Amino acid sequence: MKNKTVRLRELNFSVTKTREQIAARVRQIGANLNLDYANKKPVFLAVLNGAYVFTADLVREFEGECEVAFVKLSSYAGKESTGDVATRIGLATSIKNRHVIITEDIVDTGNTMHKFLRELEEFEPASVEIAALLVKPDALLHDISVRYVGFNIPPDFVIGYGLDYDGLGRNLPDIYTLEE
Ligand code: IMP
Repeated sequence: MKNKTVRLRELNFSVTKTREQIAARVRQIGANLNLDYANKKPVFLAVLNGAYVFTADLVREFEGECEVAFVKLSSYAGKESTGDVATRIGLATSIKNRHVIITEDIVDTGNTMHKFLRELEEFEPASVEIAALLVKPDALLHDISVRYVGFNIPPDFVIGYGLDYDGLGRNLPDIYTLEE
């Protein structure tokens, strides 16, 4: 870990999950997926933009055959979830009868996953599970089951490891929380 604090625009953030902690957790989730999805040829479905770093690390822990596909959804403006989830880029890979693992950077209110899970049903996948690096259980507004959780965190705004504040901070290797 290099910097313990960063400043983006007018806000200060401090490290809460180091790259070493993240890597160890991603390896553990990968090990679980290797057991649960051996010979199932899953489709990892990354939710852009935020999940690109987590997905890149997680799929490289998976030892079997798999595909990686991408969708682009958005519900956040600045530091707030808008609750209004838009599909910006849809699914280009067929998931009919396939085992899908949605990879998400963070499940906050759950609005995004709630809407997306219903949309996915129409494509008739064999199964759908969610792998989320971060979950804010106290912010959840829906009953969503996240099968693979990196870390449960308090309902504070975080950046780094793919997560942004107004487009900035995705490149930070550690995860930082907004200071009071
Ligand atoms: P939800 O729909 O409220 O669950 O929010 C899901 C999306 O909002 C995530 O995929 C992120 O892109 C974004 N998001 C939620 N919490 C944070 C945060 O603390 N920092 C940055 N982005 C966030």
